[in-house]
Amino acid sequence: MRYAETILTAALAAVGAVASPAAVIEERQSGTVAVDLSKTFQTIDGFGFSLAFQRANLITNMSDKQKQRELLDLLFNRTTGAGFSIIRNGIGSSPDSSSDHMNTFAPKNPGGPKAATSYQWDGKDSGQLWVSQEAVNTYGVRTIYADAWSAPGYMKTNGNEANGGSLCGVTGATCSSGDWRQAYADYLVAYINFYKAAGVNVTHLGFLNEPEFSAGYASMRSSGAQAADFIKVLYPTIQAANLSDQVGIVCCDSEGWGNQVQMTNAIKSAGAESMLKTITSHTYTGGPSGPMNTRLPVWMSEQCDLNGGWSTSWYSNGGAGDGLTWANNVYSAVVSNNVSGFVFWEGVQWPNPNTNEKLIKVDNKTNTYEVAKRLWAFANWSRYVRPGAVRVSTSGAPSGVKTAAFKNVDGSIAVVAISSSASAATVTIKVSGATPAAVEAYVSDNSHNCEKTAATVAADGTISGSVAGRSITTFFIPAGSG
Ligand SMILES: *[C@@H]1O[C@H](CO)[C@@H](O)[C@H](O)[C@H]1NC(C)=O
Ligand SMILES: *[C@@H]1O[C@H](CO)[C@@H](O)[C@H](O)[C@H]1NC(C)=O
Ligand SMILES: *[C@@H]1O[C@H](CO)[C@@H](O)[C@H](O)[C@H]1NC(C)=O
Ligand SMILES: *[C@@H]1O[C@H](CO)[C@@H](O)[C@H](O)[C@H]1NC(C)=O
Ligand SMILES: *[C@@H]1O[C@H](CO)[C@@H](O)[C@H](O)[C@H]1NC(C)=O
Ligand SMILES: *[C@@H]1O[C@H](CO)[C@@H](O)[C@H](O)[C@H]1NC(C)=O
Ligand SMILES: *[C@@H]1O[C@H](CO)[C@@H](O)[C@H](O)[C@H]1NC(C)=O
Repeated sequence: MRYAETILTAALAAVGAVASPAAVIEERQSGTVAVDLSKTFQTIDGFGFSLAFQRANLITNMSDKQKQRELLDLLFNRTTGAGFSIIRNGIGSSPDSSSDHMNTFAPKNPGGPKAATSYQWDGKDSGQLWVSQEAVNTYGVRTIYADAWSAPGYMKTNGNEANGGSLCGVTGATCSSGDWRQAYADYLVAYINFYKAAGVNVTHLGFLNEPEFSAGYASMRSSGAQAADFIKVLYPTIQAANLSDQVGIVCCDSEGWGNQVQMTNAIKSAGAESMLKTITSHTYTGGPSGPMNTRLPVWMSEQCDLNGGWSTSWYSNGGAGDGLTWANNVYSAVVSNNVSGFVFWEGVQWPNPNTNEKLIKVDNKTNTYEVAKRLWAFANWSRYVRPGAVRVSTSGAPSGVKTAAFKNVDGSIAVVAISSSASAATVTIKVSGATPAAVEAYVSDNSHNCEKTAATVAADGTISGSVAGRSITTFFIPAGSG
């Protein structure tokens, strides 16, 4: 994809010397997209972002209440914002809240893994609880992923929540203080119960983040076999707490897809795959080249452009921070790699560092914010492809346009079209298995943020519309009209 686009750009640049690009792209592409509702693929869990490392406080602490509502709407509103349906929160392990640390609610070593622990829940969870309550109560978000970057330091081989170290008690990690696996499982379940008491059902629970990386902040090492050792303790602990209907275990948020393939294989060998609900992976050390080696749903649980300077652009030569690049990243994960959930890194972040690891830049000194077009790329997916949607097959498309289609739980159908071509294309969509009676189309490109665009439906259900050049355009067939 990136390759083809490079060629196109190069070709246009070459022609640009003698004619303007507009003169070259007059020819309008057209084609027919066949959607087949009977050929089904994975079920979609949703699209989201993280609030970890006190980023949530930028929303929760926002003193200008109108701005605070605008930020929440941008993230969660299904008609004016991205309509995100997944939140990834961080379960704290830090002894304090200095810098951007996520504080633990068990800061004091009780003296040993079997000693009685008194938890100190602050009701804030680094600002994440309030945003989660808003997401659930105001916007109907139902998928809350709580992920621990580390166990509290005293449960680990290095006695520190940072700098790697392993959980005492897993294979190869013995500590003079004993086996802390059950204490860590109890700690995680206590977190679920604090949230439950505050009206938020955590649905996905992770106990690792990038387990092959010893970061200077909260981090904990684990092999796949060690992860399986802990899963076998955590699973019955969730059952005993009567939380199995609400929450399932997620593993392992590896740094890259290749790492996660290895973790997954080891978990399978240890017989613990069936105790998991979801497999999660990041892409920092490498992305996927095909579906993960599991029958479980897979989430791309953290991805972003860490290197580029802050950019709000939709398209600037296919840059890693571009909106169009993210429309394509989601496409690749969902269509080529069987991903069920896609979670961007931070939803909001202060201006420093000035990178693209956030969707919205919030300056808490001036109470101002700036929205990257990446958010609107997600909107085209997230607003219309809702949790529980089943991906169905599509075939055929105008040149330069790729498509994906989904049948939502309520019967509505979303057809997502992404154009990498500089020129607009005319599309005809035929749905086999339904006769659409109505259609709405929405476009995001350089000048539109998920705005309504023209599309029509004929008496026989054939849809006609247009896909703008370098846009993501979503054709939505409302429930009850298919
Ligand atoms: C949010 O408020 C807390 C105090 O409740 C403070 O510790 C934290 O630094 C504030 N963070 C932001 C981003 O405003
Ligand atoms: C989303 O925004 C629209 C327009 O401002 C508003 O009417 C609606 O109430 C918002 N939805 C939610 C769930 O707040
Ligand atoms: C949370 O789960 C409980 C059952 O465990 C259920 O009764 C409640 O409705 C759920 N709340 C939400 C907001 O989904
Ligand atoms: C779980 O449910 C069982 C059966 O209803 C009950 O006996 C037990 O006390 C419950 N455990 C917890 C931790 O709520
Ligand atoms: C795709 O993922 C689903 C779970 O979401 C799984 O059942 C199916 O086997 C996967 N397909 C492939 C080709 O890996
Ligand atoms: C802004 O956020 C930073 C980092 O969390 C915090 O230290 C500072 O107190 C906040 N400033 C205001 C005015 O809330
Ligand atoms: C979809 O993406 C296009 C950019 O191609 C944007 O203009 C449009 O506003 C987006 N639509 C929605 C509903 O997000």
